[in-house]
Amino acid sequence: MNFQRVFGTLPTTQASAPGRVNLLGEHTDYNEGFVIPTAIPQRTTVQIGLSSDHKHHFYSAEFDELINFSDDDTVPQKFVSYICGCVRLVEKAGYKVPPINLYISSNVPIAMGLASSAALEIATLRGLRGLLNLPLDDLRLAQIAQQAETRYAGFNCGIMDQMAASLADTNSMLFIDTRSLNRRRLRFPKATEILVIDSDETHKTGGSHYHQRRAECETAAQILGVKALRDIEDSQAVEILPQPLRKRARYIVSENNRVIEAFKPLPAERFGQLMNASHTSLRDDYELSWPAVDTLVRILQETPGVFGARLTGGGSGGACVALVESEKVSSIALDAIASYQRAGYTGRVLVPPVV
Ligand code: GLA
Repeated sequence: MNFQRVFGTLPTTQASAPGRVNLLGEHTDYNEGFVIPTAIPQRTTVQIGLSSDHKHHFYSAEFDELINFSDDDTVPQKFVSYICGCVRLVEKAGYKVPPINLYISSNVPIAMGLASSAALEIATLRGLRGLLNLPLDDLRLAQIAQQAETRYAGFNCGIMDQMAASLADTNSMLFIDTRSLNRRRLRFPKATEILVIDSDETHKTGGSHYHQRRAECETAAQILGVKALRDIEDSQAVEILPQPLRKRARYIVSENNRVIEAFKPLPAERFGQLMNASHTSLRDDYELSWPAVDTLVRILQETPGVFGARLTGGGSGGACVALVESEKVSSIALDAIASYQRAGYTGRVLVPPVV
């Protein structure tokens, strides 16, 4: 199926946006802290044309599903919630969106911690911007996309994924201060590249653990008398909190400090150590890892040529990212996949795309 087969006409606009991996700064965004994601080569593409009736029509090639939507309908809780949310919010910002046909294709894995929903939101918004000549810059698109996710898709996320989909590229890491939204491109440590492996374990808990952690962080910040955990630098300060808030806050404060350290150019060895420490604390203090993912992370960390490895994304399953010696990336990937298989799992290399 292509656009023409589904809608009987040709598209007038096409736009796309990438998925992302996060190298450091997990769960810090909703604590107004710091993050360092980078874009991955996998992208979501939308093609758009005007609809000939009064309804919007959204088709997903992955789900082979067509959904019709008009202005009075409530937003369905499916893949289209992200698109409907974007359309509604663009209209709320004062720009009329005429009825459209929209065709989505994507190779960003879903529910794997790689921000597939943000890629869809940003691709949609870029498409609308192109179609309607909207005067919205890339930062504004990220902000609208985040609102689409929180208000229409029911996931109370931070802004990292949408900023990464809108502003990151695959050649650099994007340091973001999620409070001020200031950002800076950083170089990868010398002679390294990233390896991303799909653990084959999708997020297991929907948003429930995520929302619970978010609430725990907010309570911890309140007890400590700060606006957000971002405002705590001294990791000793969290020791007065009751459990489990102490562990949760310990993770966030230490994670923010790791990102701040990684803001200055670091040798690969140190960057890798920070990634390893991030995973350990995410697993033990934040308790958002997953057994299969821990196995894959351990395999990667023990493979020569790997500087560091960790779970990336929201957690409770997902993909792993490792920082590796560029020259050895193919052999490291093959060895890690083989060991993961011996441990009883199936993994897939996502980055670099062809190993
Ligand atoms: C999800 C959310 C992000 C961020 C990460 C965890 O991807 O969408 O805002 O909180 O989890 O770092």
